[in-house]
Amino acid sequence: MIIAVLNGPNLNLLGVREPERYGTVTLAEIERRVRARAAPLGVAIEPWLQSNHEGVLVEAVQALRGAADGALINAAAYSHTSLALRDAVLAVQVPFVEVHLSNVFAREEQRRHSQLADLAMGVIAGFGADSYLLGLEALVAGLGRLRVSESAS
Ligand code: DQA
Repeated sequence: MIIAVLNGPNLNLLGVREPERYGTVTLAEIERRVRARAAPLGVAIEPWLQSNHEGVLVEAVQALRGAADGALINAAAYSHTSLALRDAVLAVQVPFVEVHLSNVFAREEQRRHSQLADLAMGVIAGFGADSYLLGLEALVAGLGRLRVSESAS
């Protein structure tokens, strides 16, 4: 099983960025933990990508078609604003889980809405770096359920 992990703007600064909100774990360490959790599940993480540019993220979503079974997406601030990412996700129809380190629903009004959430299998927010690991497990379980229901129909 191949799962892509897409990270949006400013997540490259994890570890130094607002540590009281986002914790002190770097994105490289989160990647290491996700890959370590994925391996025994038989999951390859491909690609692991972070970009500060909306267009790069749109192209990464477009590239998921036929290449990944599912995706973990933390689009960071673009989660709340990007119709272009929403359209890309609608176009490729790849199952995904939206993840956030912080509990976006307990933050400012603008962060309580996501352009992607209603298209996601589910949303995991508020568990710091663990949101990625919980998201990975939820996604793998969800993809398993999809396979069972597809083979039954
Ligand atoms: C975030 C939440 C977003 O609102 C914010 O813009 C981020 C990080 C999170 O993981 O908690 O950059 O996606």
